[in-house]
Amino acid sequence: MTTAFITGATSGIGRAMAIALSDAGYNVYAVGRSQAALRELQAERPGIVPIAVDVTDREALESVLADITIDVLINNAGIMPPLGNFADMKIADIDATLEVNLSAAILLTRLVVPQMRERQSGHILFTGSVAGHAAFSNIAVYAATKAAISGFAGALRADLSPSGVRVTEIVAGRVETQLYQDILDAKARAAMYASKVVQPDDVARMVVAVLALPAWADVTRFDIMPTWPTSPSGTK
Ligand SMILES: NC(=O)c1ccc[n+]([C@@H]2O[C@H](COP(=O)([O-])OP(=O)(O)OC[C@H]3O[C@@H](n4cnc5c(N)ncnc54)[C@H](OP(=O)(O)O)[C@@H]3O)[C@@H](O)[C@H]2O)c1
Repeated sequence: MTTAFITGATSGIGRAMAIALSDAGYNVYAVGRSQAALRELQAERPGIVPIAVDVTDREALESVLADITIDVLINNAGIMPPLGNFADMKIADIDATLEVNLSAAILLTRLVVPQMRERQSGHILFTGSVAGHAAFSNIAVYAATKAAISGFAGALRADLSPSGVRVTEIVAGRVETQLYQDILDAKARAAMYASKVVQPDDVARMVVAVLALPAWADVTRFDIMPTWPTSPSGTK
C-alpha cells in the first residue's frame, strides 16, 4: 500500500487531502497538534494513523519517522501571521511564520528524501500559495515563506528527479479553511468567503489526480484559484 505522510492534516486542505487519499487506498499518516481534531479525523476514517506532533519539533519528527517508509510526503502545515504592514510586525510572528511555513518543511523533507532517493521513487508535495508568486500588501513574511517554498521545490526537483522522485508545488489561492480563524473576526471572514471560493476538497481531488499519474510524469506545479466573478452561490 502506498504511504502518504501529510502535515497540517487536522484542518482545511490537509484534512481534505488525508480523507481523499485514504479513500483512494493510501495508507495515511495525518500530522497536526490538535489531539481532538486528530481523534475526529480518525473517527471519520479509522484507517488514518494520527500523529500528534508540532512540525517545529525536530526530535519528535525524527523519532516518528524512524519506523515509517514514506512514498508521498505532503508538506502542508502552515500559518498566516496577523495581517498588517511589515513595519509593524512582531518579531515573534516573523519567527513563527518562518519556522512553521519554511524551516519545518525543509527539515522534514531532509529527513525523508534519503529513503526516497535510495528506493528511486517517491513524491513530495508542498502547499505553496499565490502569495509566493504575486505581491500583496500586509502579508510580506507569509509571502516570503511561500516564495521560498517555490524556490526550494524547484531546486529539490532538479536534485531528485534523476532518482525518480517527483516534486509538486501546489499554488493555491483563497481556499475556504481555518487559516484566518485567529486573525480575522467572523464578519471579515464571512466577507472573505461571501463569494464561493475554492474548497479544500477541490485541492484534494487535484492532488489525488496528480499522484495517480505514472512515475514518468511529474506535475511540477498546479495553480488553483477561485473563478471570478462569482455570485454568492457560486454560480455566474
Ligand atoms: N486557505 C487558503 O486560502 C490558502 C491559500 C494558499 C495556501 N494555503 C496554505 O495551505 C496550507 C494549509 O492551510 P489551510 O488553509 O488548510 O489552513 P488551516 O485550516 O488553518 O490548516 C492549517 C493546518 O496546519 C497545521 N499546523 C499549523 N501549525 C502547525 C505546527 N506548528 N505543527 C503542526 N501542524 C501545524 C494545523 O494543525 P494544528 O493546529 O492541529 O497543529 C492545521 O492542520 C498552509 O500551508 C497555507 O499556507 C492556504
